[in-house]
Amino acid sequence: MKRVVILISGGGSNMVALCRSMTGDHPARPVLVLSNEPEAGGLARARDMGIPTAVVDHRPFRGDRAGFEAELLKPIEAARPDILCLAGFMRILTPGFVDRFAGRMLNIHPSLLPKYPGLHTHARALAAGDAEAGCTVHEVTPALDAGPILGQARVPIRPGDTEATLAARVLAEEHRLYPAVLRRFAAGDRRPVTP
Ligand code: GRF
Repeated sequence: MKRVVILISGGGSNMVALCRSMTGDHPARPVLVLSNEPEAGGLARARDMGIPTAVVDHRPFRGDRAGFEAELLKPIEAARPDILCLAGFMRILTPGFVDRFAGRMLNIHPSLLPKYPGLHTHARALAAGDAEAGCTVHEVTPALDAGPILGQARVPIRPGDTEATLAARVLAEEHRLYPAVLRRFAAGDRRPVTP
């Protein structure tokens, strides 16, 4: 049974989708939900599901990324993870941290990578007049939002769409894509998941 640690910073809707999927004959189980944000709404949702949680507030380490990551590593290592899932985790991780989990750390990004790495993906797709948008699950490598793609899901951009309506449409796909990719990845299959 693969042990999965999920890192969040906010509401944790992707974390909830992942945890709900890890049942029955699924080859993985969540062992820890960890947040850099003490007020993250996802912490209460994880507790409601009976999943252990931890918080490492990044604020005391302002400017000391290595110090923050050294602290972050403590609950992660204690949980003995096989796989790390970043799910709405909003801190950039150093290459040193990423290398420790090379080949076993996933992230979900709300765009069709390689388009729109970084922030404000929906606003950028709308501004560009794109016909479609979507989300990508990828392996995390030192370069931001640039690792091997493990799955993508596409949604149409509709006339009158706002950042909020597009984000909601993409988020619904994220909640389907990420669990599908994790299940396949946890079974040792790295073939990309496409709809
Ligand atoms: C989502 O848009 C996800 O793509 C991004 O963070 C946002 C919030 O995710 N990574 P969640 O509701 O906290 O899972």
